[in-house]
Parts: sequence; structure tokens; C-alpha cells
Amino acid sequence: SNIVVLISGNGSNLQAIIDSVQNGAIDGCVSAVISNKPDVYGLERAEKAGIPAIAVDHSQFSSRSDFEQALIQTIDQYQPNLVVLAGFMRILSSEFVQHYLGTMLNIHPSLLPKYPGLNTHKRVLENGDKEHGTSVHFVTAELDGGPIIAQRSFHVTADDNEESLQKKIQQQEHKLYPEVVSWFCSGRLQFKDGKAWLDQQ
Ligand code: GRF
Repeated sequence: SNIVVLISGNGSNLQAIIDSVQNGAIDGCVSAVISNKPDVYGLERAEKAGIPAIAVDHSQFSSRSDFEQALIQTIDQYQPNLVVLAGFMRILSSEFVQHYLGTMLNIHPSLLPKYPGLNTHKRVLENGDKEHGTSVHFVTAELDGGPIIAQRSFHVTADDNEESLQKKIQQQEHKLYPEVVSWFCSGRLQFKDGKAWLDQQ
């Protein structure tokens, strides 16, 4: 498969995916990394791996739709069959989502459908939840609301704070996201009738 990854920052999930491509766990290649913010570390990671690293700076466009048109043009130059959102922090319109429906994944730091949106760790702590975790889902027009493909969870302990939760989540994400991407690339994972289907092998 031909994968394009969209980021906005550090890109540690991007790195996990690049590593899994390089060690053969993902049958595919990352053909481009695109960030809506210039000068983020994730773009450096791409360059180090020899992958085209492109900024499409949302602040340079006067409307969301202009930005998204430029983003679509940039992505589609690479003709990906999978678009991976890895810490991409812009809300996408339903037109954009429709263009990649069934071929775009996102990772979110909560056990969806709990806590879509921002500040998930804070809300987990405020509510005294005993469990927290991460979810990978197909992207639909509903923010963090598309069909869930896989989740990993862990117990929240009395001494956890936002920082420790973030650390634990990221450790799980770096295993889970490459795994889900590998399922998609091998044809095991599909989007059909608005649902996620995973072939059990
Ligand atoms: C991840 O925790 C992801 O769940 C959230 O943003 C973070 C991105 O981290 N959407 P990184 O840029 O991959 O390091």
C-alpha cells in the first residue's frame, strides 16, 4: 500500500509507522508526510527516513475550504490508498472526509465513544475513571465518531496525572497504530456499509 501520513507535531506515531514499514511489519510504504504546521519535529523524522516532508500551512489560507483543497491536491499527488492521521490537529470538513471515506484512519487518546475532542486525560482524571486508553477508527464526518477498529486500555492508578497518562497512552499507541495500519495494508481491514470489518485469521 501507498500511505500518506498527516501530522501537526512531534510525530512519534509517524515514527512507529515508519519503523514498522522498515522492519517489514507493514506491507507498504510511506510516500509522503504532510503537516499543517511548518517546523514541527515530525517533518524532520520524515526527512531523516528519506520521505518527502511537506508543509501545507493552514494559517496561509483564508478559509478552511481553501486549505482543504490545497491539502487534497498535495495528498492526491501521491495517489495513496491509505491516509493516516497521526496527531493531525485540524478539524476536517465532511467534504474532505467524504473524499477519503473508508481509506482514512485516526488515532485518538481515549476509549471512544468516551471523550471525543481535546483534553481527554484531564477529563478522565476529573471523572475518576478507573480505565483509560486509545482508539483507532475510520474517519467520518463526526469528530472522533467514526467506526472503531481497535482499542487498548490500561488501569488508571491513584498517582496518575495528565503527564503519566499521556506516557502510558503513547506506549500503547506506538504498538496499536502500526498494527492497524498493517491490517489495512494486507487487506484484512475494510470499511463497508459504514462499518469497520476485520478478517479474523
Ligand atoms: C497522540 O497521542 C494521538 O492520540 C493524538 O495526538 C497525539 C500525537 O502524538 N491525536 P505524536 O505527534 O504522534 O507524537
